[in-house]
Amino acid sequence: MKSIQVEIDKIYAPASTVTAADVAALRPEIERAHALVHSGEGKGSDFLGWVGLPSSITAAQLDEIQAAADGLRGVADVVIAIGIGGSYLGAKAVLEALGGSFDHLALPKKGSNPRVLFAGQNISEDYTWELLEAVKDYDIATIVISKSGTTTEPAIAFRIIRDEIERRYGKENAARRIVAVTDESKGALRKLADTEGYKTFVIPDNVGGRFSVLTPVGLLPLAVAGVDVRGLVAGAAEMERITATAPFDENPAMRYAAARTALYRAGKKIEILASYEPKLQNIGEWWKQLYGESEGKEGRGIFPASVTLTADLHSMGQYIQEGERTMFETVIRVAEPAHEFRIEADAENLDGLNFLAGRRISEVNRMAILGTMLAHVDGGVPNIAVELPRIDAHSIGGLLYMFEKACGISGYALGVNPFDQPGVEAYKKNMFALLGKPGYEEEGEALRKRL
Ligand code: PA5
Repeated sequence: MKSIQVEIDKIYAPASTVTAADVAALRPEIERAHALVHSGEGKGSDFLGWVGLPSSITAAQLDEIQAAADGLRGVADVVIAIGIGGSYLGAKAVLEALGGSFDHLALPKKGSNPRVLFAGQNISEDYTWELLEAVKDYDIATIVISKSGTTTEPAIAFRIIRDEIERRYGKENAARRIVAVTDESKGALRKLADTEGYKTFVIPDNVGGRFSVLTPVGLLPLAVAGVDVRGLVAGAAEMERITATAPFDENPAMRYAAARTALYRAGKKIEILASYEPKLQNIGEWWKQLYGESEGKEGRGIFPASVTLTADLHSMGQYIQEGERTMFETVIRVAEPAHEFRIEADAENLDGLNFLAGRRISEVNRMAILGTMLAHVDGGVPNIAVELPRIDAHSIGGLLYMFEKACGISGYALGVNPFDQPGVEAYKKNMFALLGKPGYEEEGEALRKRL
């Protein structure tokens, strides 16, 4: 099976001052960073459980996930997956990538895959009200996901969804419709789940939120939605093997990490992940969390942004072409679409498009990709290409793992701990203080004076 390719030849002049010799010179450093990811001797090594995760997932574990998913599928038309950050973005990204672009238009039917909706990723009153309104005629169940078990956004959402489930089906029947994914022993959610007798799955201690998509955090909601989770895990396991053993020149994670490290050091501080497939948009959201939380610390790190093209060529395209020259682009390309659609000839040709008659839309997209790449390179925006053979579970699993591995390597090359996120605490402290949470009285008073 063809694997994911990373091309870095378009990062050099005229797009940047980086040369092939600069990337080659980084090789020892990138290999050392890669070795640290495997040896566990680098910063944050308590959180390296994701490195060997795909190949360690057993058939029995997948069976258990599938059984729990089937339990929820059997009782619900809509399953609400509650979580935020790493407990949300992976499932959302994969679900959209592997689902139909218009699945949301079809109402869930008995016997078909339940619709998976998300909650707890915001504190919007309108979102919450509209979610409950949207599901009022459907049987519901929920998967509540929180590693710490104490995160405010999902905790609020779970209180509301649990109340709704208990109101509709009775407290005594609620446990059939609730599965919790959380820490083995710590946190409010673990306590609640044990008290109420919910089925639970454990998020391993050594896998941080943004690296957890291949644990039950991602796999359970995806299995509920009917996604081929075995294919996803197999694709990730294959990429685990490739990136663990392939030499630098054939190692997609090392090449990607080396290219972006060279560009960062040459003054390119912003990385835009671009794709030309709308269903990959949320892969961009997942990737932004992965790299933003892993690298953005100690006053350092590439700022991760994302666009979906060609739509955003008609908005952000102007800035990318001619704005500040501090960015580079990583483009996800898909070699083969799943479906075939050709442009027909038109007798009148009023739109002048007959030169495209008989050609596939994917050919037009391909030329847009290549034309844009050269235009951006000419405009001073270096281009890394990540090519997937197709959008399927195997390729997406491989892509997720490749990005994770490159993230660990890049973080170590940057000199930070890629596996902590001390900065996300600051807003929580202020929010609790402003809400009058017991214990935060002084901070609350000080903050209110500043508002
Ligand atoms: O990457 C991370 O660790 C964070 O984004 C967390 O996933 C997020 O804050 C949610 O945390 P929890 O799963 O503990 O509710």
